Amino acid sequence: MRTQVAIIGGGPSGLLLSQLLNKIGVETVVLERQTREYVLSRIRAGVLEWGSVELLRKAGVASRMDKDGLAHEGALFASENNQFRVDFKAMCDKMVMIYGQTEMTRDLYEAQDKIGTKIVNSAENVFPSDLETGSPYVSYEKEGREYRIDCDFVAGCDGFHGISRTVIPKNSRREFEKTYPFGWLGVLSETPPVSDELIYALHDRGFALASMRTAMLSRYYLQVPLAEKLQDWDDDRFWAELKRRLPVKAAETVTTGPSIEKSIAPLRSFVCEPMRWGRLFLCGDSAHIVPPTGAKGLNLAISDVYYFYQAISEFYRQGSQHGLDGYSSKALVRVWRAVRFSWWMTNLLHRFPDQSEFDQRIQNCEFDYIASSRAAQKSLAENYVGLPY
Ligand code: APR
Ligand code: PHB
Repeated sequence: MRTQVAIIGGGPSGLLLSQLLNKIGVETVVLERQTREYVLSRIRAGVLEWGSVELLRKAGVASRMDKDGLAHEGALFASENNQFRVDFKAMCDKMVMIYGQTEMTRDLYEAQDKIGTKIVNSAENVFPSDLETGSPYVSYEKEGREYRIDCDFVAGCDGFHGISRTVIPKNSRREFEKTYPFGWLGVLSETPPVSDELIYALHDRGFALASMRTAMLSRYYLQVPLAEKLQDWDDDRFWAELKRRLPVKAAETVTTGPSIEKSIAPLRSFVCEPMRWGRLFLCGDSAHIVPPTGAKGLNLAISDVYYFYQAISEFYRQGSQHGLDGYSSKALVRVWRAVRFSWWMTNLLHRFPDQSEFDQRIQNCEFDYIASSRAAQKSLAENYVGLPY
């Protein structure tokens, strides 16, 4: 089989790329190792920057998001003795959209079905080859048969644990990593959210976040030590701990109920440079990971896809390599800015096990400074709603 762009990975990056490229007449094949049901059962982030919202509209996959998504003009930040609201709209004239990544992925699959693009689920042993030549190909197996897709370009959209990044020879890539000494315990519950806007809470017992998916679906997170075991957290313990960490007024009104999903995720910052090797281009989590504190993971994947889509469009429409040659450095500028912001938010809002009393005073002081400074809130807002592409 032959195609123009072979896409490894059918998560949000791979599907959005396929959607955008097919709309301009560029042929793609998406190779996804999991079944569609599996991909659509993963609960992930839920905050879209306005640039992401606009790109999803341009891609023709926004009708359900525009109907069911919740546009938020601000978010609340609370510590044990201070609280403030950052008004994104007043600060930057932008908002964010609350819409689950799972729903966005479902919309993309449905849109792809309508156009009739090629998506291979349950593809095993996917492997890109001859990436340094003008005629790369991707091999894979399915149901015991071997296949080969010849192509012009390979998009590595296969997430952090994918194959794409690892085929770049070790001496041709640099990896930058920071791990954090805690994880997030997340709960999804069919209860009305405690607040109309997200609450990010800094507490002596650890960070807490009150988020949501819809008017009847809440998403909450607690900072927990890395060694924590999921089975030690029944629902009662989770709600009791959440109430301790949220500001008093919110804690008094939180509606509890059975959890419908519960998981622990470690926090990590990671960047691979460059994001291109020969005819292989990395997009999304395959090239970088951010801790969820700034809600940037999905949005960065979307901006990578946008840059790559533009470069491919320039290549087929104008015969220009310019965009492709500039892809990695252009994408990495935005990646590092989001990595910095996510690291900063993480440091601002979590208690660290080795934090000295000096460090705690500095942390509280920074929190109070942001509460009192319009300039500091504007900087937070500008990054949270998303830096321009
Ligand atoms: N072959 C084929 N597919 C693979 C392979 C492989 N070797 N390895 C991984 N995949 C698939 C995964 O099963 C997954 O569906 O690639 C997909 C990658 O999807 P994500 O991990 O969701 O990464 P991405 O599409 O870049 O999305 C960005 O934003 O909020 C963040 O981390 C969150 O998933 C989110 C991400
Ligand atoms: C979520 O709703 O899943 C969410 C929201 C904000 C974050 C991280 C996750 O910063």
